[in-house]
Amino acid sequence: MSELHIIDHPLVQHKMSLMRDKNTGAKEFRELVSEVAMFICYEATRDLPLKEIELETPLAVAKTKIISGRKLAFVPILRAGLGMIDGVTALVPAAKIGHIGLFRDPETKQAVQYYSKLPEDISERDVIIIDPMLATGFSACAAIDEIKKQGAKNIKFMCILCAPEGVEAVQKAHPDVDIYAAAQDAGLNEEKYIVPGIGDAGDRIFGTK
Ligand code: URA
Repeated sequence: MSELHIIDHPLVQHKMSLMRDKNTGAKEFRELVSEVAMFICYEATRDLPLKEIELETPLAVAKTKIISGRKLAFVPILRAGLGMIDGVTALVPAAKIGHIGLFRDPETKQAVQYYSKLPEDISERDVIIIDPMLATGFSACAAIDEIKKQGAKNIKFMCILCAPEGVEAVQKAHPDVDIYAAAQDAGLNEEKYIVPGIGDAGDRIFGTK
């Protein structure tokens, strides 16, 4: 069964409060998204395998560890997922980045794919999908479907905020995909926004509203 990991470190909770505040402007909001993404990524990569190496410190020979060859790809869901990319690539600069474009049909609220460009070797990579909001789970499930279709097997989903509806949808459709989030809110309103939430993440990151 897919696990939900809530990263409730005090620094993350503090930054979440700043993000929730409607008076926080686009510049600060964007910085907070990136910082919180970095904290979540830190936890989502906790199981990266290590290998032992030997090197010389200025004083002696040391047996020490580095990340072993497993390859990682981040896949932000356009457009709001782009806001988290700086934070995650600061931690894993060698990761490749794919993109999946999905929009929400205003009537059905279903995810409609309009773009997909993934690294050629995606099937050999561990994949972390990135989207600030896990609301209905429609976009998350569509992105996971697409990435599995391209052959990737080890997939995680990372968001800033999730709703129980979205978590349940992912866990039901993709029990092998763990979810990482900074917080889980009460649920969705009629417009399928997370409440109390942080509003429209894309608009707040890019200042479009
Ligand atoms: N997408 C958003 O940007 N915000 C929500 O609350 C839900 C989906």
